[in-house]
Amino acid sequence: MLTDHIKLDECMDNLEIKMTSENSNVPEKSPSESHAEVIVRMFPSDANPAGNVFGGEILKNIDMVAGIVAQRHSQSNAVTVSLDSVNFLKPVFVGNVLFLNARINYVHNSSMEIEVKAEAENIVTGIRTITATAFVTFVALGKNSKPIPVPNLSLKTDEDRVKFEEGKSRMETRLKNRQKK
Ligand SMILES: CC(C)(COP(=O)(O)OP(=O)(O)OC[C@H]1O[C@@H](n2cnc3c(N)ncnc32)[C@H](O)[C@@H]1OP(=O)(O)O)[C@@H](O)C(=O)NCCC(=O)NCCS
Repeated sequence: MLTDHIKLDECMDNLEIKMTSENSNVPEKSPSESHAEVIVRMFPSDANPAGNVFGGEILKNIDMVAGIVAQRHSQSNAVTVSLDSVNFLKPVFVGNVLFLNARINYVHNSSMEIEVKAEAENIVTGIRTITATAFVTFVALGKNSKPIPVPNLSLKTDEDRVKFEEGKSRMETRLKNRQKK
């Protein structure tokens, strides 16, 4: 009986994939269709006693905004499999407003590379500085929690094309270094 359920779930996932590609007139999506910007305020609970926001808090927000892009692109559940090239360039302080910008650069089959840029704004001075950058890889999952294909990327601009090629090259490096259990 359990086996039947698993088989049914697999069939449903296959059906979903077919419906997406056969019913939709848009088999590919441009990066601008899934772009996301999230704005969050930094509070004392996000920081050390000197008022510097924890790197982990910024990472949490980077993962969150990248997840929005991955799910908007795949229109499915998507999970983080890798977070790399994280650079904390400038400190973020309590009271700052964090602007997180995320875009999809590259897709393979079920995997997607999302680039995130975080800027902190001092509300009083109005000065905004780039505080962190990162690349996050997500994998789209079907109902049985197995990877499923995502729409291809429709590259509309020169920036899209450059970022796609750079993303492809980074993904190749990532996969070479990937540790399988
Ligand atoms: C996502 C998951 C189901 C994939 O399972 P898997 O056995 O690794 O599946 P596969 O080997 O078939 O890989 C599926 C895709 O993920 C990509 N992938 C997996 N690990 C990767 C990594 N570390 N970096 C980049 N891509 C990775 C593969 O290249 C493949 O991409 P493609 O379909 O575009 O070719 C599994 O790794 C998982 O559940 N991970 C935990 C995710 C999670 O819980 N994240 C939250 C933080 S703990």
